[in-house]
Formats: sequence, C-alpha cells, structure tokens
Amino acid sequence: MKNLKIAVIGGGSSYTPELIDGFIKRAHELPVKEIYLVDIEEGKWKLDIVGELAKRMIKKAGLDTEIILTLNRKEAIKNADFVVTQIRVGGLKARAKDEIIPLKYNVIGQETTGPGGFAKAIRTIPVILDICREIEELAPNAWLINFTNPAGIVTEAILRYTNVKAIGLCNVPIGMVKMVAKILNVESSRVKIDFVGLNHLVWGQKVYVDGKDVTRRVIEELCDGASLTMKNIPDLKWDKAFLESLAMIPCPYHRYYYMMEDLIIQEKEAVSSGKGTRAEQVMKIEKELFELYKDPKLDIKPPQLEKRGGAYYSDAAVSLISAIYNDKKEIHTVNVKNNGAVSGLPNDVVIEVNAVVDKTGAHAITLGELSPKIHGLIQEAKAYEQLTVEAAVTGDYGIALQALIMNPLVPSVKVAKQLLKDILNEHEEYLSQFR
Ligand code: G6P
Repeated sequence: MKNLKIAVIGGGSSYTPELIDGFIKRAHELPVKEIYLVDIEEGKWKLDIVGELAKRMIKKAGLDTEIILTLNRKEAIKNADFVVTQIRVGGLKARAKDEIIPLKYNVIGQETTGPGGFAKAIRTIPVILDICREIEELAPNAWLINFTNPAGIVTEAILRYTNVKAIGLCNVPIGMVKMVAKILNVESSRVKIDFVGLNHLVWGQKVYVDGKDVTRRVIEELCDGASLTMKNIPDLKWDKAFLESLAMIPCPYHRYYYMMEDLIIQEKEAVSSGKGTRAEQVMKIEKELFELYKDPKLDIKPPQLEKRGGAYYSDAAVSLISAIYNDKKEIHTVNVKNNGAVSGLPNDVVIEVNAVVDKTGAHAITLGELSPKIHGLIQEAKAYEQLTVEAAVTGDYGIALQALIMNPLVPSVKVAKQLLKDILNEHEEYLSQFR
C-alpha cells in the first residue's frame, strides 16, 4: 500500500477537525502517512490550535498518520498525492463586506450567491491560480479537491487556466441526500438523487429509495413543511403550487432566486436587530469553537461544529479521495467539466452533476436536454460565472460589469455599476488585477 501525502491549504480553518474525522473514519481504505496543514501568517494562531487538536484526534484513533503544521505552502504541496483547498481570501471580515454591500441596493447579500459571490470569486481566483502553479511544478500528479467557494466558479478557473487535475466539491448534495433520508425516515445509503445544475444552484431531478422513484412523495413532504436547508440559510417554506409544478427538489440556495424579496427582508432584519450578517454570526461561532479546540482534553470533532453550514464536508471530501485512490467507479456529485453531459452548455464549463469517479477522475453522467423550467436559469448563471472567471483573471472592468449584469440577482446596469464600484473600493487590497 502506498503511503499518501495530503496537503490541506487553509489548514487553520475551523472545519479542519471535520476533515481529520473523515480521514480517521476511512483509515482502513486510505493509507495516509502525512497530513500537512498549511496556512498564512495571519492564520498561524488558528493553525496552531486546530493542528494540536488534529494531532490529539489522530492519537486517540490509534493511527500513526503524522500531522505537520507549516506556513510553507511549497513544502506542503511538494509530492502531495491529494491537495485540498479550503481558503477564504480576506477572511470573515471580507465575507462580512460581501454580505453587507449588496443590501444597500436592496440586493441579496450572500457569500457565494449574487454580488457577494462575485466579490469572493474575483478575490479568490488569483490566489487559487498561484496555488495551482505550485501544484503544476511540485506535484503534477496530485489531485486537487477544491472546496474553496464559490466552488463551481473557482473550479472552472482552475480547469480553464491550469493543467491541474481538479474536482470541485460542495456539501450541499450530500447534505440534501441526508435531509431527504431524514424526511423519509430511511437510511441515507438507500437514497439516490439525480443532481444537475451549478454549485449552489443544483436541483434533484429525481429521488429514489432502493431504486423506486419517490420524487413526488418528497415534494409532498416539502409542501407540508418538511425542512430541507443548511445552518446558514433561513428555512423559508416553499410555495406549494410552485414546487408541485417544478416537480424537482430545489437546493437550499434556490431560496435566494425563488424567494428573493423574503430573503432580502430577513437579511436586513438580521443586521438591524443586531444579530448580524452570517459572517458576523460565524465570527462568534468561530470564537467559541477555537476556545473549545484549545482544551487539551478534547480529542474528537466537537458536536458544536455542527452550527456551521459545512456539515458532512468530511464525508464528501474523504469518500471522494477514496473513490479516486481505490478506483471505485462510484457515483459522487461533483463540479466537473460538462463535456456534453448537459446539452446546450459548452463542453468546457463546470457543472455540478453526478459523476462516475475512478482513478482517472470524475466523469459526468450524460443527461442530455434539461427541462426549460431549469435550463434558462442555469444558462444565465453559467454566463455570469464564465464572465466572472474572465474578469478575475484579466481585471477588465467591462467584463466585470457584464458579469454582474448577467447575475440573475442583479436588477439593472445602474445597480451593477454601484455594486462594482463598492466591491472594487472595499476589497482593493485583494484586487491588484483591477489596478
Ligand atoms: C454551506 C455551503 C458551503 C458554505 C457553508 C457556509 O454548507 O455548502 O459552501 O461554505 O454553507 O457555512 P457557514 O457556517 O460558514 O455560514
């Protein structure tokens, strides 16, 4: 058996215990020798705390995997078999700005969807491309599992501009499978969902339990008020007539598109009531988490981590890594090149879809034509994503403006220009490509 080297970029993240937990659970099928947790200088205090917890977790599990904490990214990447990226350029402070700026113009303020996601993408893509250049040089055979948000857009940038073997991953699909299983009161291993769409804009076209189509039943349960959301998204109930005629399962993030006004009201209320934007709430949760992580007696993933939106992150990431390493030919829902899976979209754009995963990568399952009920929104959002990637790389003002205009949540040129001005000003230090 090979001894694997894993590099986690953004290793000081409060989510790292999730990932370590995933490696512990799959130690029988993944012989991991070393896990390098790497972060930047500002994140060193977090890396030290979370890194020590990771070491205690590994020790408690009785494994001999070595955890190495470093600020030297190249050392971490060199000869890695798998690189996991979970970075947040500008930290939670920048996220708070992404969430607050759009609200000024009565537009959704969210970290990955709408103009907030655009701002995050143009800050993040240059950094991710730098990381990829190091992977090309130091670990050309490594697989990159990208969790960095906005995951679909960032993965598209990687696949368009580098030679790195990358797969984008999100916890929304696995989270939906688990939530549907809970609604139907069955084991999640019995549930299969045919996913298609883009990251944070993915629909379950059909739901099966033991191969039997139960889509209708899930829709009825949702119409009756069953909950299907994540910790970071308000659990607004779906309109019955809408959901029945859609005849598919929307993801939690679809609320931003289909219930835009209600969500804007909720977001504004959160700010005015002092509860704060999600970033501000997460700052408080993170503070509590790091206090917990410091406890030398803590040697497991603490349940308090479930207050974050990224539940099941480890399941998704480590089972994907295992499927590649063990050549499992298993189905995973991932962000990969379309390559003809959905007609009417270019081959080289990234979609979120079920794919067969083996040691040569993730191969999207062909679906052909999609229903016009969802196809138009996918095309519009994809055009926004393509333009965003181009704007992030070129720093071209006009392309950035066109990207924002194409975003389904931006209402007019006037608002797009105001948003772009604020985004470029507020995040200037991270946007040298626009200078
Ligand atoms: C969901 C999304 C992730 C996102 C997370 C945010 O799980 O799928 O992409 O990072 O929520 O959670 P947070 O606790 O940071 O608001």
